[in-house]
Amino acid sequence: MPALTTTSDGFLLHGEPFRIISGAMHYFRVHPGQWADRLRKARLMGLNTVETYVPWNLHQPDPDGPFVLDGILDLPHYLTLARAEGLHVLLRPGPFICAEWDGGGLPAWLTADPDIRLRSADPRFTDAVDRYLDLLLPPLLPHMAASGGPVIAVQVENEQGAYGEDTAYLKHLHHSLRSRDVEELLFTCDQPADLAAGSLPGTLATATFGSKVDQNLGLLRAHQPEGPLMCAEFWIGWFDHWGEGHHVRDAADAAADLDRLLSAGASVNIYMFHGGTNFGFTNGANHDHAYAPITTSYDYDAALTESGDPGPKYHAFREVIARHAPVPDEPGPAPSPKLPPTVVELGRQAALLPLAARTAKPVHAESPLTMEELGQRSGYTLYRTTVPTAGDGLLHFTGGVGDRAQVFLDGAPVGVLERERHDETLPVRVPRPGTTLDVLVENMGGANYGPRIGEPKGLLGPVTFNGEALRGWDCHPLPLTDIDDLPFETTTVVGPAFHHGSFEVAEPADTFLSLPGWTKGQAWINGFHLGRYWNRGPQRTLYVPAPVLRPGVNDLLLLELHASTSTRAQLTDTPDLGPVQR
Ligand code: GLA
Repeated sequence: MPALTTTSDGFLLHGEPFRIISGAMHYFRVHPGQWADRLRKARLMGLNTVETYVPWNLHQPDPDGPFVLDGILDLPHYLTLARAEGLHVLLRPGPFICAEWDGGGLPAWLTADPDIRLRSADPRFTDAVDRYLDLLLPPLLPHMAASGGPVIAVQVENEQGAYGEDTAYLKHLHHSLRSRDVEELLFTCDQPADLAAGSLPGTLATATFGSKVDQNLGLLRAHQPEGPLMCAEFWIGWFDHWGEGHHVRDAADAAADLDRLLSAGASVNIYMFHGGTNFGFTNGANHDHAYAPITTSYDYDAALTESGDPGPKYHAFREVIARHAPVPDEPGPAPSPKLPPTVVELGRQAALLPLAARTAKPVHAESPLTMEELGQRSGYTLYRTTVPTAGDGLLHFTGGVGDRAQVFLDGAPVGVLERERHDETLPVRVPRPGTTLDVLVENMGGANYGPRIGEPKGLLGPVTFNGEALRGWDCHPLPLTDIDDLPFETTTVVGPAFHHGSFEVAEPADTFLSLPGWTKGQAWINGFHLGRYWNRGPQRTLYVPAPVLRPGVNDLLLLELHASTSTRAQLTDTPDLGPVQR
């Protein structure tokens, strides 16, 4: 018997009436050194539960390799900390998680198969899912409520109704969980209009929405005449795309809707309580009419800011929750200390293209291979060939680029092609026969919603110059996972380059990396990959969690893809997520 059961209009936990007041916080978007702090703040706001997805792509980066459960992926430890804080957990293991996460959490090695029918009962997909669950679930079983752990409910898939009606697939997942000893309550979640397509008879249906509370609860009730009403994702903010404004939602407006939900007797999971950060190469993308990658920050205008400080919603939500349930009679959390503003001089450089061509072992092919064909999951690929004829003409990338290509002739930049703008053609002047053509392609994040999940990255077809296909390519994968021993110089280099500087810290504290004058690239501190920066915005600072820093000397490394008007970076005490989207 699961710990959490349902009645005609509510939940029972261990037989006692219970209302889920939950907040979303993804362990994989928060430095593990800060999990305990954020969980305590969740309890202090009045939450009795936290919710997290599980990103399959990070836990199982290789189909046959080890299953990763350490560092920021140590989910068992996260669950232990949640329990220690007295919080219950809603677990959403996917396999698809959406979540503005690279590929919606589906591993690139799986989606690389062009014939596989993702998120369906296709055995090529369900066999892989079952292997994932074989690896994921045994270490989690001690954390299930049945064994005295915090996990009281487990979600089956994620908004499947928006993707395609496939009851056989949902049934398969249900069985896969049950047959691997998951006894807890299972539920599906869907946007109200998709409830019929995404529900599994006999499994609790929940809804996802951010407003029109009465109307949406009405739709859920009409679909499911009996059982608890639950908003499994109550959207109180939103995410950002590069090149747009920063999304915010008024705290009083969100709090009023939370009050409506709780007054209606519904259970809720606030999405997000704490959004965190898309560190490294983990962000996803939307791809509807145009490709739109998600920013590094996943602040989400949530109750806790990206750096874990209580924002206006934190206080407003606590007040609302206190009207409906007891909240801890303890002082609320204060903002964390910040590092004093610091300037970092980036005095050493290493040019990327020669380094990549020398050190990243190429795969030779007649036509360019995609990143998937190269077995690459994320990062950059450098493609190199020669152009046999000289003169003015058009370089045409017949399949387009995934997702952004910088083009060089004999090392000189001649243009950029962006999937966001549907670019495929570049006018160029080839100075001499045998000119070296370099194309540096960035994977900006895999689509996480809709039918384009798993679309390939890199160069997506043959490249022609004035209609003639260019042949004989060296494809150099650059996942940038091994950047410890770069051959730095102190002379100025031109073009894509690593830039290094060091700075002193007396006492580690949160800080924000600001890069005025820099264009686009990646940033690491002490080897921790903070993520992408881009002067296109909206975000202008990158969050640096305190546990990344150490007392004494710290290292800042940038990969700048274009150029900088400055040789300095700044660590500031205030985040700048950019102008607000109107
Ligand atoms: C949907 C998905 C979530 C997330 C939100 C938007 O509801 O289920 O994973 O993508 O949208 O933030």
